[in-house]
Amino acid sequence: VAENGLQAWLRYAPLPQGHNARLPSSIIALNSSTNSPVNTAGQELQKGIQGIFGNRLSISSTGKAPSSAVVGTVAQFQEAFGSSPVHNQLEEDGFWLSVKGSTVQILGQNERGALYGAFEYLSMLAQGNFSNVEYATNPAAPVRWINSWDNMDGSITRGFGGNSIFFADGHIVSNLTRAAEYARLLSSIRVNAVVVNDVNANFTTINPENIQGVGRIADVFRPYGVQLGLSLDFASPMELGNLSTYDPLDPGVIAFWGDITQQIYARIPDFAGYLVKADSEGTPGPLVYNRTLADGANLFANVIKPFGGIVMYRAFVYNQLPDEGDWKADRANAAVDFFHPLDGQFDDNVIIQIKYGPIDFQVREPASPLFANLLETNTAIELQVAQEYLGQQCHLVYLPPLWRTILDFDLRVQNQSSFVRDVITGERFKRPLGGSAAVVNVGLDDTWLGSHLAMSNLYAYGRLAWDWSSDSEAILQDWTRLTFGLDKTVIDTITQMSMASWPAYENYSGNLGEQTLNDILYTHFGPNPQTLDNTVWGQWTRADHASIGMDRTVSNGTGFSGQYPPEVAEMFEHIETTPENLLLWFHHVNYTQILKSGKTVIQHFYDAHYEGAETAHNFVAMWQSLKGKIDDERFEDVLFRQVFQAGHSIVWRDSIVGFYSNISGIPDDAGRVGHH
Ligand code: GCU
Repeated sequence: VAENGLQAWLRYAPLPQGHNARLPSSIIALNSSTNSPVNTAGQELQKGIQGIFGNRLSISSTGKAPSSAVVGTVAQFQEAFGSSPVHNQLEEDGFWLSVKGSTVQILGQNERGALYGAFEYLSMLAQGNFSNVEYATNPAAPVRWINSWDNMDGSITRGFGGNSIFFADGHIVSNLTRAAEYARLLSSIRVNAVVVNDVNANFTTINPENIQGVGRIADVFRPYGVQLGLSLDFASPMELGNLSTYDPLDPGVIAFWGDITQQIYARIPDFAGYLVKADSEGTPGPLVYNRTLADGANLFANVIKPFGGIVMYRAFVYNQLPDEGDWKADRANAAVDFFHPLDGQFDDNVIIQIKYGPIDFQVREPASPLFANLLETNTAIELQVAQEYLGQQCHLVYLPPLWRTILDFDLRVQNQSSFVRDVITGERFKRPLGGSAAVVNVGLDDTWLGSHLAMSNLYAYGRLAWDWSSDSEAILQDWTRLTFGLDKTVIDTITQMSMASWPAYENYSGNLGEQTLNDILYTHFGPNPQTLDNTVWGQWTRADHASIGMDRTVSNGTGFSGQYPPEVAEMFEHIETTPENLLLWFHHVNYTQILKSGKTVIQHFYDAHYEGAETAHNFVAMWQSLKGKIDDERFEDVLFRQVFQAGHSIVWRDSIVGFYSNISGIPDDAGRVGHH
């Protein structure tokens, strides 16, 4: 039964009777070598069609049959058949899909693209879609990566689905079946690389034995067209190389990294690249030697360039801010302060990887202003499928609507339309590289993420990274059909629950742009508003008995709003023009400040918390209405989580409204909140 979870959206469950599919009668996969993605595509077509329809088709690598499914690259097709229907429409990883009844052509620009096309065709069939189609499709950006925060001891930082599928006890696990199954899921959503170790990297990952080990991971990824990347510990030259420094300009340090890179490529010729978290939350970095972050990034860019690799350098650079007494101090300013002066100094194979908001994966944040401050530098957005602050997979929170608030935000750089999605794809500033990374943190759990429904976020991430204009709800429904079948009630119910889930979570956690109000000292789970102020992490709310919010204006506050281009800065500078869902992000106001609804800020808090908890409560009955329409195992598993969420949303509600009614002394108009 665990198969239901493990197969996720690639179940190939039999279709209900009564369809009139016209299927190919054989499969021609134009490369039969074992590790080639085209060979994988042939196998996958065979497996998928057998699962959905019960017929087992034969696979060959040559021949010509009128009603066959041919899969390969454009070049392989040309070689086999003399000409090809595809003419310059494809970019790297793109594919062309033609379905004419039982004659199917699936042609990739490269082998990976061909595999993507095969999964696309199977996704249509599995959803009962037998239409004739013919189109070319290309990725929005070349980098569609996943970051896995796995540690060498097998634990996962912010992992909510069990221990690592890659590591245990300081080594790479011997059985990599799950790693291969993961790559299969990822290639079906067109993710093309995984950085397998935590951003807080450990130098032992790149010792000689472990380089061989991660080489084995790359081996099981390869047939799926998924490349491997690694996070680096900046201080490795000292810890592993016995040097007396890790200064990025030191010749010994440069030689050390050159040698490591050579060892990696000797074992993994298609290695994707490095991910670097430096000078952040205590990690070592170039600033220790008074070198710039560009010096740090270019160190790796230089040594990896001859091999064609890239460097993802994280913008999550900040030092804990000790002084809340300073009204103008602001952790949110850090990224632009550090990186803007360096624009243009990063090598062409460096990408600055920027968390979607300026703080840290909160339930609501404005788009990071850094996206508007790097015009001559490649950028990528960092999203988080792992619901670190958003319920840790114990709460249903469908994330694409949140992500869209960032990607669809227009930064108005130079007074021209500058959507974040067009910045990160490289389109807006004509950059050669760009894209996205999502922190996913799957584990050994049979559900991968710890919850069946959380997998919609992983699926949607891949779909969006390919095309940021895809509709969140349409993606969700594809996922639901593939995961739970074609029953309309099931699809409608899961759609309703999922689309209501992020607004509900925002309602019962932190409102009006005040951050999520989690416990930020230890668990990042559950409410603990008192941990935000008077702690070193700089996630302040400045709540006192009369007022609340961070004044981030230029005129009177931290100046953060001035990091945006003029039109946007002007909007955030004033209370009247700041969207209310970000009011307390940008402004410090009285609890009695009146919102557009006519309610006070504090009354809005109270009402929103009751509303959010009620929505979460309703999810239980909605889910129960699906009994019998979903296999018992997944039904019960999800029900358990929905019951938990309903209860925990009340814990959230009561602790947040209690905290603010206490501190403000202002009673709830509806009399629900106790007087103190
Ligand atoms: C969050 C998370 C850390 C992580 C950090 C990062 O703060 O809690 O565990 O290391 O982000 O993204 O580097």
